[in-house]
Amino acid sequence: MTDKLIIFDTTLRDGEQSPGASMTKDEKLRIARQLERLRVDVIEAGFAASSNGDFEAVKSIADHIKDSTVCSLARANERDIERSAEALKGANSARIHTFIATSELHMEKKLRMTREQVLEQARMAVRLARKLCPDVEFSPEDGYRSDPDFLCRVIEAVIAEGARTINIPDTVGYAVPELYGNFIKTLRERVPNSDQAIWSVHCHNDLGMAVANSLAGVKIGGARQVECTINGLGERAGNCSLEEIVMAVKTRRDYFGLEVGIDTTQIVPASRMVSQTTGFVVQPNKAVVGANAFAHASGIHQDGVLKARDTYEIMRAEDVGWAANKIVLGKLSGRNAFKQRLDDLGIDLESEGELNAAFAKFKELADRKSEIFDEDILALVSDESVTP
Ligand code: KIV
Ligand code: ZN
Repeated sequence: MTDKLIIFDTTLRDGEQSPGASMTKDEKLRIARQLERLRVDVIEAGFAASSNGDFEAVKSIADHIKDSTVCSLARANERDIERSAEALKGANSARIHTFIATSELHMEKKLRMTREQVLEQARMAVRLARKLCPDVEFSPEDGYRSDPDFLCRVIEAVIAEGARTINIPDTVGYAVPELYGNFIKTLRERVPNSDQAIWSVHCHNDLGMAVANSLAGVKIGGARQVECTINGLGERAGNCSLEEIVMAVKTRRDYFGLEVGIDTTQIVPASRMVSQTTGFVVQPNKAVVGANAFAHASGIHQDGVLKARDTYEIMRAEDVGWAANKIVLGKLSGRNAFKQRLDDLGIDLESEGELNAAFAKFKELADRKSEIFDEDILALVSDESVTP
């Protein structure tokens, strides 16, 4: 088992399935270039058979992206797989990702197929995909809600046909971490040829646990690929968020013991680009990429961070692409943070008395105004009444 965790980004495919997030070909190519700068291992560029527009987008990304593998999603049928292969022709490194649902609910109500028909269709799809592309991934859709006995049969069969990545989707975000991790572990133990494939996790965020479930799939289950999106964009409540999974694995390397090839300084630029392109605003308290993720407002925290950043920061803002952390001056700020901001602004008050007077005025203002900006401070110290 390798100790590298493969980062498979599906912002341009599953992310785009978010209502209102559809992107043009040029927008997708721009984001794909940023994903390449981020050094994601695999970019799922789209679903080539779903429309001519998506075909063109996948093709354009395959033609231009050279450092990441470019992948197209395909249902388990001939036309989808052939369209994917066609769109991916220009890629340096291409992958076809084919899927079919395996839960009783999906097979009976949606596909109206029997188990044996689904098994045969999965086999046929992977066999054909392998003829057209050496790198084939298979997903049993709604895998987490599927009967494990049947799932094992399907997975064993598709590995025998040449699938080299087996992805287990929690399509509807129903899993909880320990159970999902153990589910992956059990499948890996029970499928006789399981070590011929890399196992992958694909979690949706309906219960807010996509990242936790993915990490459990990695830690307990032994998965070595995570499918994720920038800002957690995706169907309904979204997918596992790339920035959170990457920074969790990097920050807690002591626990996970895994390497990721991501250039983390490109995370915030990627987040901004996806947000601006889709119009989906990132919530201020979103981990890693939210505007407040590295901002300190309380006086005690500001004082601690000014003395030693590790007191209240487990990651460096600069490491994920922010210019710096932020000390937000307001009514909770203390004298130390205020003095530091004066120093940063090049303001040197002559006496302790002047500093005390300026600080008193600052506190007074902060009671009326939720955030104090540099302009406020400049106005405040230029006001003669600061002088005691
Ligand atoms: O959530 C899901 O099941 C999917 C598959 C198509 C991989 O996105
Ligand atoms: Zn999905």
